[in-house]
Amino acid sequence: MEITGSIKEVRRQVKEWKKQGLSVGLVPTMGYLHEGHKSLIDRAVKENDRVVVSDFVNPIQFGVNEDLSTYPRDIEADKKLCEAAGADLIFHPTPEEMYAADFSTYVEMQKVSEGLCGKSRPTHFRGVCTVVNKLFNIVMPDRAYFGEKDAQQLAVIRRMVRDLNIDIDIVGCPIVRESDGLAKSSRNTYLNEAERKAALVLSKAVFAGKKMMEEGERDAEKILSAMRGIIEAEPLARIDYVEMVDADSIAPLERAEGRVLTAMAVYIGKTRLIDNFIMEI
Ligand code: PAF
Repeated sequence: MEITGSIKEVRRQVKEWKKQGLSVGLVPTMGYLHEGHKSLIDRAVKENDRVVVSDFVNPIQFGVNEDLSTYPRDIEADKKLCEAAGADLIFHPTPEEMYAADFSTYVEMQKVSEGLCGKSRPTHFRGVCTVVNKLFNIVMPDRAYFGEKDAQQLAVIRRMVRDLNIDIDIVGCPIVRESDGLAKSSRNTYLNEAERKAALVLSKAVFAGKKMMEEGERDAEKILSAMRGIIEAEPLARIDYVEMVDADSIAPLERAEGRVLTAMAVYIGKTRLIDNFIMEI
């Protein structure tokens, strides 16, 4: 497995693979890899001849008061995980390699990026779309792999690929959870012992909402208020949002019908965590 920070080197390598007729999968990440990322790499390794993992904490998707400077990083551990999972190349650029000092072109999306996380993080998806577009242009993969934990991000990327006619298959992969239910996230590392326990309210609310829908409840407000009740009972938790939307357009739903995304962002202490479930009804 090779690791490089150079755009030129990635292009050279991928061109060589393509000349040999090999298919290429891309797993975009911000590093500090865990089992959730590993499941994306495993799937990419199964479905492609060669796999590139990008490992880049993208500064332009963080708001001014967010955790860019403290975002966890451990490239040595990332290398081991990628190597063990069978990736072929890690692209680990510096911010300077990705963004020229006079960088001035952004990919902006309306509607799909405006609800849910877009409300409290208004520049986030512009940063995500821009960097993912750049990664697509650098790696030119056949397929790219994203986690369903970031369900809105997945919807945004699918919409961007459709709208801009980008010829790459987008593959969504299921949420990976700790044994007690907490969705795996690099940000879980911010939690102290009491917060780690408190963070279970997210998955508890997810499981409760899912059960209500499985048992036939369709009224969004009934489901959401039961879920909010579980979270509000935890003193360390503060809700950013708990909402039910169409999983593709992210438009709010009053009834659980179609491809339904029930998603939440909750602060546990200072750490903002997300979780969700999708059901087709
Ligand atoms: O999901 C992430 O880790 C990031 O948002 C992504 C897609 C790698 C873009 O920086």
